[in-house]
Amino acid sequence: MRAQVGLLAAVSLCLYSAVQEVLSTPYLLQSTSSRTFQIDYDNDCFRKDGERFRYISGSIHYSRVPRYYWKDRLMKMYMAGLNAIQTYVPWNYHETIPGKYDFTEDRDLESFLKLSSDVGLLVILRAGPYMCGEWDMGGLPAWLLRNDSVVLRSSDPAYLKFVDKWMSVLLPRIKPFLYQNNGPIITVQVENEYGSYFACDYNYLRHLLKLFRYHLGDEVVLFTTDGAGKGYLKCGALQGLYATVDFGSGGNVTQSFQAQRYAEPHGPMVNSEFYTGWLDHWGWKHSVVKKEIVAKSLDEILALGANVNMYMFEGGTSFGYWNGANSPYWPQPTSYDYEAPLSEAGDPTDKYFSIREVIGKYKMLPVGPILPATPKFAYGLIQVKKLQSVVELVHLLSFSGPVKSVYPLTFVEMNQYFGYMLYRNTLPINCTEATPLASPQNGVHDRAYVMVDGVFQGILERNTIITINVTGQAGSQLDILVENMGRINYGRGIHDSKGLVTNLTLASNILTGWTIYSLNIDEAVKSGYLNKLKKLERLTAPAEVNVPSFYLGTFVIPSGIPDLPQDTYLKFPGWSKVGARFE
Ligand SMILES: *[C@@H]1O[C@H](CO)[C@@H](O)[C@H](O)[C@H]1NC(C)=O
Ligand SMILES: *[C@@H]1O[C@H](CO)[C@@H](O)[C@H](O)[C@H]1NC(C)=O
Ligand SMILES: *[C@@H]1O[C@H](CO)[C@@H](O)[C@H](O)[C@H]1NC(C)=O
Ligand SMILES: *[C@@H]1O[C@H](CO)[C@@H](O)[C@H](O)[C@H]1NC(C)=O
Ligand SMILES: *[C@@H]1O[C@H](CO)[C@@H](O)[C@H](O)[C@H]1NC(C)=O
Repeated sequence: MRAQVGLLAAVSLCLYSAVQEVLSTPYLLQSTSSRTFQIDYDNDCFRKDGERFRYISGSIHYSRVPRYYWKDRLMKMYMAGLNAIQTYVPWNYHETIPGKYDFTEDRDLESFLKLSSDVGLLVILRAGPYMCGEWDMGGLPAWLLRNDSVVLRSSDPAYLKFVDKWMSVLLPRIKPFLYQNNGPIITVQVENEYGSYFACDYNYLRHLLKLFRYHLGDEVVLFTTDGAGKGYLKCGALQGLYATVDFGSGGNVTQSFQAQRYAEPHGPMVNSEFYTGWLDHWGWKHSVVKKEIVAKSLDEILALGANVNMYMFEGGTSFGYWNGANSPYWPQPTSYDYEAPLSEAGDPTDKYFSIREVIGKYKMLPVGPILPATPKFAYGLIQVKKLQSVVELVHLLSFSGPVKSVYPLTFVEMNQYFGYMLYRNTLPINCTEATPLASPQNGVHDRAYVMVDGVFQGILERNTIITINVTGQAGSQLDILVENMGRINYGRGIHDSKGLVTNLTLASNILTGWTIYSLNIDEAVKSGYLNKLKKLERLTAPAEVNVPSFYLGTFVIPSGIPDLPQDTYLKFPGWSKVGARFE
């Protein structure tokens, strides 16, 4: 029954104007003076409070900028001439443990929405459940993989059960922030680039439509975004969800919007992701898109009267373990600079001013100063000292103690979702000669540091290094520290288990009888245990391959200099992530 709500919403637009005509006394109009944000299909535009409206928006993800800086960044976006911002809501950032929700501090979405409104910016909210966005698992919580048969982003009840629960927490929270409820949110995105996913499950999109309407009401404009091609829109668009497209600079803008017309013959033209730069992968060169090309395409988009969201306006940082990966397996780095008009540090770049100039051709720019780059300070060289290795400290790092298992368990099976896990075994045979240790089914997700009796043997790596040689006596301790480098965020590969997800072999025998340590390194660092350890040695050869270890360095914030402490950058000269992929 609720599947028709989308249609009803469109119908109610017509009813609304009819009602206005009938009840057209000033008194009655005032009494219904609620704020409105709607699609005008006859005139191919949005209408805000009845007036023709076009948004010029920029993406900023609150999860990628420390809360302390939200206002600074939003004000810079406002001063560039934007009238809206766009953000994702990463599900896994708010529900890290099933049923436990965090909306505090850097995760305080409501404060972010309020701040945007205070600064004078409307909000385009991409509520999920999936986001992509070069974010771990595209924003889906890894604990969904506790059921290994779950079909993510589909109408599989094993998936929808958790979507429904999450949305029943998220959507009521954002409802008071909808435009018609005096808040900044003008439109809400359902799913993201669904047409690029293999499932093509319309029942799933219908379910989301019903769910969003149930929680948010009939008035708010719900939309989808897909690549600017018929092929993408085919499985990504659904009646009742306004279909928009995304495309970058340098192409034929008119042609790209024609793709949107395949799904939406009438209504405003919208590019929901106009790429100001591009994403990076570990070991690749930083992506660069010339400001002249961005400015030219932006000019063409605005000249057509289209709505645009610049992705990203500020990229920021995927702090901690939040970066994602693409497939074939290419992890993204911590920086999400994106070569956006505001740098990773939030500073205006030349691209910022080019974009501002283009916007100035189409609307009055706000007057007033543009906030400058944030101050930085160089604290100087910090000598780091080597502490013990991870293997030596395993008793301090694994709070839950080891788990015994005949075959290896994955991260999810161990109830650990991020970081590192230690797999311990003993060599069952004498490996006096170099003996191959292998992952014949390519099941090291994503990188394994191998040690025998504490001596480094080599690195196994997903897709690239399937076999290494080890040496050691039968009975020697074999330690394999496995690093999760970020879950795939795009495509079928988002079902991305971590750890040793298949068996390892030693000289063609399957290794059995594992002792597995879940490691909570962050907690160990926070608790201060590691600071109390005896410093062992000065690090002299940073480039040589060492067994994974802790290093400690200290620095002093000088006194007598005003406004300290200030931001800084960390640089590790001569350090690298060794391996086939990272040379
Ligand atoms: C896991 O998901 C599959 C697919 O929906 C379902 O058949 C199965 O019952 C689920 N298992 C559990 C334990 O919920
Ligand atoms: C862009 O595409 C439109 C529509 O296909 C076409 O008419 C126009 O000539 C193209 N412009 C350029 C510069 O190729
Ligand atoms: C390994 O080699 C040692 C010394 O040569 C020998 O004593 C031991 O029996 C061997 N162990 C196995 C499992 O082959
Ligand atoms: C392992 O050792 C064997 C025998 O010494 C050698 O032929 C082979 O190339 C080595 N493999 C690797 C991956 O180093
Ligand atoms: C590991 O090997 C055992 C024995 O052959 C097999 O039963 C099991 O399914 C394998 N595990 C994986 C994850 O491949």
